[in-house]
Amino acid sequence: MTKKTVLTGITTSGTPHIGNYLGAIQPAIDASRNPALDSYFFLADYHALIKCHDPERVARSTREIAATWLALGLDTDTATYYRQTDIPEITELTWILTCMTSKGLMNRAHAYKASTDANRDAGNADLDDGVTMGLFSYPILMAADILMFNADIIPVGKDQIQHIEMARDIAGRFNHTYQPLFNLPEAQVDEQTQLIPGLDGRKMSKSYDNTIPLFSSSDELRKLINLITTDLRAPGEPKDPDSSTLFQLYSCFADRSEIEVMRRQFLEGIAWGDAKKQLFEFLDAKLSAPRSRYNELMKDLGHVEQELKKGAEKARAKAAPLLDQVRIAAGIRPLTYEAPVAASAVKKKEKSAQELAEIAARADEGRRRAILMQLKPLLDQVAGAEDKPAAAAAIIAQKTAEVDGLKKKAKQKAQNELDVLNDELAVFLNT
Ligand code: TRP
Repeated sequence: MTKKTVLTGITTSGTPHIGNYLGAIQPAIDASRNPALDSYFFLADYHALIKCHDPERVARSTREIAATWLALGLDTDTATYYRQTDIPEITELTWILTCMTSKGLMNRAHAYKASTDANRDAGNADLDDGVTMGLFSYPILMAADILMFNADIIPVGKDQIQHIEMARDIAGRFNHTYQPLFNLPEAQVDEQTQLIPGLDGRKMSKSYDNTIPLFSSSDELRKLINLITTDLRAPGEPKDPDSSTLFQLYSCFADRSEIEVMRRQFLEGIAWGDAKKQLFEFLDAKLSAPRSRYNELMKDLGHVEQELKKGAEKARAKAAPLLDQVRIAAGIRPLTYEAPVAASAVKKKEKSAQELAEIAARADEGRRRAILMQLKPLLDQVAGAEDKPAAAAAIIAQKTAEVDGLKKKAKQKAQNELDVLNDELAVFLNT
């Protein structure tokens, strides 16, 4: 069996916090120990430039994140651990993919829409005010990150699912236009990631300014834990563990029996001060070993740099041959290039007929998804209609009329859409 490739990137614009650790870093490091998977983890420093124009902060964050993963035990022989900007192939692929991306697809990206919505709400006539082309094209760079390594599984937060769908869409278009060189990636979302609360009880996130940096000093950690919001219940009054941020954070790190002991203490009315003290002591003990490794690495950044360079070499050994194929497929070729002779092409074909069928099936699936994405408003219309069969029939009739009225190429496109609609709406249509 061929190994599946897992790939994820971390934007280098912040300091790793406990939410990142529990939600993303630790699960990724655990996955990298699974021999059935090939892991690619990288520092998305070009992505950092999209939202952060403070060079010191980008540079500091890059150091901190680079050292954090190593301090937590990432094995750089097993996993490929690199920095995006060390892989020029990714940037080059970004352009080729840019030419395969419809502007309309980018118009629909959440990050871009959030900016235009904010401008609209503020009564700003220029909806694109403050939007850079970097923000607008962000999903294309991300698609290149993923497609450059033909990754299968992309562990991400919920907010990133749309970007993975877009990467599939872009890959499908390339495969269809040129050659089926790209695998269609899938997002993998761990629901639990969303549940790690920050100091104020909302999801721990840099944007809420409620984080606990993973490697704060003991003193800072104590101070931050003392800031965690509690209610006014007095010592001795029973407290509800499940609605307490203190208890939830404790549970994220503790094992089952430790959690039970703490739960009992809450029900028996532990004082908030004591609960904070216990949480602090517990976390401080858990984090002290990786924290000291982290502090050592931050004093030996030359070593960290070397690790990243080693990762870049491994990554480029994968990326360069695929990029060569991509360039050739798109017609960017040495002047002397000659296509492989027919005989060898035939031989190759025979050898991997099944493989080709699989790739074609995947490309078909990608096209179907792309079409589905466009048809979503129509399908939503049916889903929201009182009389679904009537709404479905009306939409099919409308699309059929459209197909009939069109010529050749446009007709084929509309026919493809009609096929997908017929599939999707089959339950409502009595055919
Ligand atoms: N955009 C992602 C984020 O903000 C980071 C990222 C960049 C990424 N490239 C990626 C994640 C490729 C997964 C795959 O979280």
